[in-house]
Amino acid sequence: MIKIDENLKLYGQKSNVPISLDDTLVFLCDTINKNNCKEILEIGTAIGFGSITMTENTNLSHIDTVEIDENRYKLAVENISNHGLNDKISIFHTDAMDYLKSNTKKYDFIYLDGPKGQYINYLPYIKKSLNKGGIIVADNLYFHGMVTGKILVSKGCRAMIKGLKKYIDAIVTDDELDSKILDIGDGLGISIKK
Ligand SMILES: C[S@@+](CC[C@H](N)C(=O)[O-])C[C@H]1O[C@@H](n2cnc3c(N)ncnc32)[C@H](O)[C@@H]1O
Repeated sequence: MIKIDENLKLYGQKSNVPISLDDTLVFLCDTINKNNCKEILEIGTAIGFGSITMTENTNLSHIDTVEIDENRYKLAVENISNHGLNDKISIFHTDAMDYLKSNTKKYDFIYLDGPKGQYINYLPYIKKSLNKGGIIVADNLYFHGMVTGKILVSKGCRAMIKGLKKYIDAIVTDDELDSKILDIGDGLGISIKK
């Protein structure tokens, strides 16, 4: 069991802000704890629900989290402050690619939960930002069944689904990564840097 701020979750659901599912959060927290991950990067903060949950349920030292949307960024700043986590979570209001390109820090765990079609483009920078033995978890690899072929890919989602398929292909064939696709939440990709 993990501690979840149910009010924040409800706010996300009611306001149509995409937030991580409970079983995804349980997996993230378990993985961080079991592997003693200390320095975390999250791509896609939304309103801070994921970063708050990971911080309150693990022994991590610090999370950097990146959000492009100004309103969500502001809400995340407020929520993180209300939880008294300003010293544990740093939020960057910028484009994830800009952050990744200029980043010099190394992380133990990277949670990829931003624009799905971009995961494949982020991968080289993510790998560079990861310590040896570090872990990448990428969310929504099924994208509600559109990646697995369970439901028809809508026209507006074609490029994103293509990008997600490329990401899956890239992680499972990359010699520097040990990767698996897990049937948790909306499909999670876990990759360990060898
Ligand atoms: C699924 S939500 C993140 C949910 C959050 N990780 C959680 O657990 O509650 C994805 C977020 O990525 C943000 N996003 C989309 N494109 C982005 C980009 N290019 N750079 C940074 N953030 C981006 C969206 O605004 C959205 O808030």
